[in-house]
Amino acid sequence: MGQFPAYRPRRLRQSAVLRQLVRQTRLDVTQLVLPLFVRSGRKLRRPIAAMPGVFQLSPDELIGEASRAHQLGVPAVLLFGIPETKDAKASGAYAANGIVQQAVRLLKKELPQLLVITDVCLCEYMQHGHCGIVQRDKSGGRILNDPTLKLLARTAASHAQAGADMVAPSDMMDGRVRAIRTELDRLGFTETPIMSYAAKFASAFYGPFREAAESAPKFGNRRSYQLDPANAAEALREVALDIQEGADIVMVKPALPYLDILYRVKTEFGYPTAAYAVSAEYSMTKAAGANGWIDERAITLESLLAMRRAGADILITYAAAEVAQWLKAQ
Ligand code: PBG
Repeated sequence: MGQFPAYRPRRLRQSAVLRQLVRQTRLDVTQLVLPLFVRSGRKLRRPIAAMPGVFQLSPDELIGEASRAHQLGVPAVLLFGIPETKDAKASGAYAANGIVQQAVRLLKKELPQLLVITDVCLCEYMQHGHCGIVQRDKSGGRILNDPTLKLLARTAASHAQAGADMVAPSDMMDGRVRAIRTELDRLGFTETPIMSYAAKFASAFYGPFREAAESAPKFGNRRSYQLDPANAAEALREVALDIQEGADIVMVKPALPYLDILYRVKTEFGYPTAAYAVSAEYSMTKAAGANGWIDERAITLESLLAMRRAGADILITYAAAEVAQWLKAQ
């Protein structure tokens, strides 16, 4: 090494312009997706206690919220629905006039440029709060994987029929991407992409979301269908499977505690990859920020940048609109 002139890393850090020139990873508003919760009603903005700034919105309010984010440059929203009634076959999930179907039609009419992604799952629509059909037994119940696939495919198709630009299955049943792809193709929606929640872990970080979506399981937990947080190789197998079945974009969820998975998914498959910064990631940042313990803005931006660095192309975050504002002000 001695014969070479000394490499001095500091040379490239001397000015803001230089730092920008050599910056490898960037955060851009065009990478953001804002999750939104819709329920029926008018002028309704029902706050979620653990997620300040996040609301269950009636369709009219949803348009306002989506439009504000869109004006700030946020290109896409991810829709979750809270139905008026729940049952044992999740009828509300695939009802032609279900809450998500209504909201999609309205969004595409009022904000045609906004990309509308729908979450495809049954838990919000099931009395028991599980993501699939349940057969009750002495120990509580079992999830019936294969019969659930039909309902998921039907749900995705009804979203596409309402005008959804992309569907995002989050249920984690085996074979659901193929079932959804087949049904979409059969109905002529051959160009509708699927963003699959491919590496979705059984995580405590979903706690606040279950209040927001009113989807907490009434018995048991989701460990028979979501991934064990201890298993990375299994996560990669799940992603491989979803890609084989026709997923166009794969997602890793949660995001910040799973950057190793994100990195491996991106390097292994090279597919468009999304990171979902989930509800508790948002809650923790908000709570510490509100206490003045952390710089909320700096921590949020640094966390999102870390997800980009690890391999995420798409960032799904409840802070999307605020982040858009912060990026503008930079
Ligand atoms: C539905 C679903 C969940 C989330 C997204 N889709 C909850 C769960 O699996 O229990 C979590 C999102 C978040 O915590 O922000 N299956």
